[in-house]
Amino acid sequence: MATVLDSVRALFAPNTTFTIDAETPADVVARENLLDRVMGPDRRKKSSEKIRRGRVPAEGLALVARDAHGHVVGTVRLWSVEAGIAPDGQAIEALLLGPLAVDGAHEGKGIGGALMRAAIAEAHKRDHGAILLVGDAAYYERFGFFADKARHLVMPGPFERARFLALELKAGWLEGAAGMIVPSGRKLA
Ligand SMILES: CC(C)(COP(=O)(O)OP(=O)(O)OC[C@H]1O[C@@H](n2cnc3c(N)ncnc32)[C@H](O)[C@@H]1OP(=O)(O)O)[C@@H](O)C(=O)NCCC(=O)NCCS
Repeated sequence: MATVLDSVRALFAPNTTFTIDAETPADVVARENLLDRVMGPDRRKKSSEKIRRGRVPAEGLALVARDAHGHVVGTVRLWSVEAGIAPDGQAIEALLLGPLAVDGAHEGKGIGGALMRAAIAEAHKRDHGAILLVGDAAYYERFGFFADKARHLVMPGPFERARFLALELKAGWLEGAAGMIVPSGRKLA
């Protein structure tokens, strides 16, 4: 059956085609090399990494961008988390997005935006309620992410409040959400 991703193809510049695709096991080495190049060795010290470590991404929410030759030039993954608790004491299920990265040689061609829009569409289709991330508001606000929605939530480690952003996929999903983000996704075998 065709998925949202099957139909997400973007033409960014004349004669240059990028495809947004589901990540496969064959992409893992290229994705890790890309992240090392783009984000540097300190990327594993981030608070977000504590949530990702030892877990697999949420079902269907590990995406790559490929160039015309099939090489991985961009990556984004989303992770299942509990985003604190609601006023009624129930844990709130959500997604944590990251890392998002695009190969330096291909920056500014719309690949990051295409990855973000595909990830949001797929999360919506899979009935998730909200997405959180830590990143530059100046970049992520264009996709609907704002700090206000995450104001009573905290990451499990140092983070900058102004960079802790959220997008509700279902209106009011994070209303009253307060507490720490903890991983809830499937553990790595
Ligand atoms: C941020 C990143 C994913 C953007 O990818 P991209 O493919 O270049 O993005 P797009 O082509 O879709 O968008 C480019 C636009 O975003 C803007 N932009 C890029 N990074 C930005 C930032 N940190 N803050 C504000 N705007 C930013 C560019 O100036 C450009 O603006 P324009 O459209 O007005 O010219 C990429 O630059 C990257 O991998 N950076 C290093 C890793 C990183 O910071 N990841 C995000 C944190 S998890």
